[in-house]
Amino acid sequence: MSTENVSEKDEWRDLIEEIKKCRRCPLHQNRTNAVPGEGSVNADIMIIGEAPGANEDLSGRPFVGAAGTLLRKILREIGFDEEKIYITNVVKCRPPGNRKPNKDEIDACSPYLRRQIIYIKPKIIIALGNVAGEWIFREAGLQWDSISRNRGRIYETNLYGMKISVIPSFHPSAVIRGSVDEDILRKDLLLAKSLLENEKKIQRKPLSLYDFLKK
Ligand code: URA
Repeated sequence: MSTENVSEKDEWRDLIEEIKKCRRCPLHQNRTNAVPGEGSVNADIMIIGEAPGANEDLSGRPFVGAAGTLLRKILREIGFDEEKIYITNVVKCRPPGNRKPNKDEIDACSPYLRRQIIYIKPKIIIALGNVAGEWIFREAGLQWDSISRNRGRIYETNLYGMKISVIPSFHPSAVIRGSVDEDILRKDLLLAKSLLENEKKIQRKPLSLYDFLKK
């Protein structure tokens, strides 16, 4: 049984519609599609990238270009069920020429990602690359250094009153450019997988009737 009730479903649908119609920053002017995200709203794991690229802009889906194909391949190889993950980006519209989103664009778009996190309540957030890592650290009141220094570790954060583990890793496009070894990204994604499995073992205690019905 889904954990969503009808008004929660409306809330999510409204949020996605708002993102698709958003005009809060100039990025909407050149977009084909805004890219809200993809996956299960009951996901335990949320993966956050930087911003849509050309393929994502055309399809309206996150991580479907070269970087996404690599990411999804690694997720499959290590046995992650993609349907139990929610994949999104800090910024929902493509910056021209795939440049990094600027501060104003990130600030304008941030309420959407905040609302997505609060709605989904993931146990683990994997932040891919500097933009996503820096964004989530700022939200959690943590000091960001750089992706090379912060990656591959578990940060226990308090995000919007929820206990969420954050694992930063390299963006798959860094692997495609050849500046990062694919095995490093794989190792960090495996860390997230084993953390989730451990948490599930710890939580395998008798359920209350309420928790049972929520399942
Ligand atoms: N890069 C990102 O950060 N996000 C995407 O959706 C695609 C490429």
